[in-house]
Amino acid sequence: MDLFGLEGEVAVVTGALGKLGPVWVETLLAAGACVYALDRPGQPLSPEFARLQDAAPPAQLALGRADVRRRGELEEALRDCRSRFGTPSVLVNNAGVDTPPSAAGGGRRIEEIPIEETLRVFEVNTAGLFLCSQVFGAAMKEAGRGSIINIGSLYATVSPDARFYDHLACDPPFVKPPAYGASKAAVLNLTKYLATHWAPFGIRVNALSPGGVLGGQDEDFRRKFCARVPLGRMAVADDLRGPLLFLASRASAYVTGVNLQVDGGFTLW
Ligand SMILES: NC(=O)c1ccc[n+]([C@@H]2O[C@H](COP(=O)([O-])OP(=O)(O)OC[C@H]3O[C@@H](n4cnc5c(N)ncnc54)[C@H](O)[C@@H]3O)[C@@H](O)[C@H]2O)c1
Repeated sequence: MDLFGLEGEVAVVTGALGKLGPVWVETLLAAGACVYALDRPGQPLSPEFARLQDAAPPAQLALGRADVRRRGELEEALRDCRSRFGTPSVLVNNAGVDTPPSAAGGGRRIEEIPIEETLRVFEVNTAGLFLCSQVFGAAMKEAGRGSIINIGSLYATVSPDARFYDHLACDPPFVKPPAYGASKAAVLNLTKYLATHWAPFGIRVNALSPGGVLGGQDEDFRRKFCARVPLGRMAVADDLRGPLLFLASRASAYVTGVNLQVDGGFTLW
């Protein structure tokens, strides 16, 4: 039984040139899907994505450009995707913005965070994700099938622990912007909303919420973070592949509206 195969499927992945984008793209390609990768105009090609482009035949992978906040650009991307591969049946809503900590200052008091910055986070992480779902979901509705996977975060369900950052030399201390988690919490509700409204059209909508993914974090952060994870470590790319395939494929045919937390148990405590 090939429950997890995606042969003949067409997947769209937003934010494809970032850290996790190439992980989703590579996983979907390996399962047999054609992938229409999207990122915003001007975002440079990452070495990880370039490597995938070199390895995959052009008939299986294409890179389009669209800002998730601009409907016209997304509609153009849908047309391009259809002409290259066909109607999308999988959408990975992965594009997102966050503010990384900076050891060289950059701390702020919560009450001083500019409203423009807060709105920008919601605009991309929540409204942009909704806009992508509207544009690509409309095509899935016509086709009568589809799986939408919204990339959430552990901070969709819990607040960031400020102590992870208290070794950073900045005054006021670094705080992870509250808009990040709030925008991701909103994604979980949108996931349930779309899951119920689009179930009659054969579209499943789920969230996949990664925990902290190992990257360029400093050693103190990693130590404090890992001590908070029941499985004792940060996530690596391979931890995310199976959960994505599960949600994208018919292995999860009777699963909709859930938030699959892939965080080593972080949110249990
Ligand atoms: N990396 C982690 O540890 C982690 C943990 C939990 C959740 N996540 C979530 O996973 C997703 C990917 O994270 P990442 O670490 O790869 O982030 P990243 O910053 O490396 O990549 C994000 C990508 O989104 C694109 N993007 C940003 N704004 C856009 C816009 N307006 N239109 C189109 N594209 C836009 C960027 O160009 C970039 O390529 C995000 O939604 C993030 O919140 C990441």
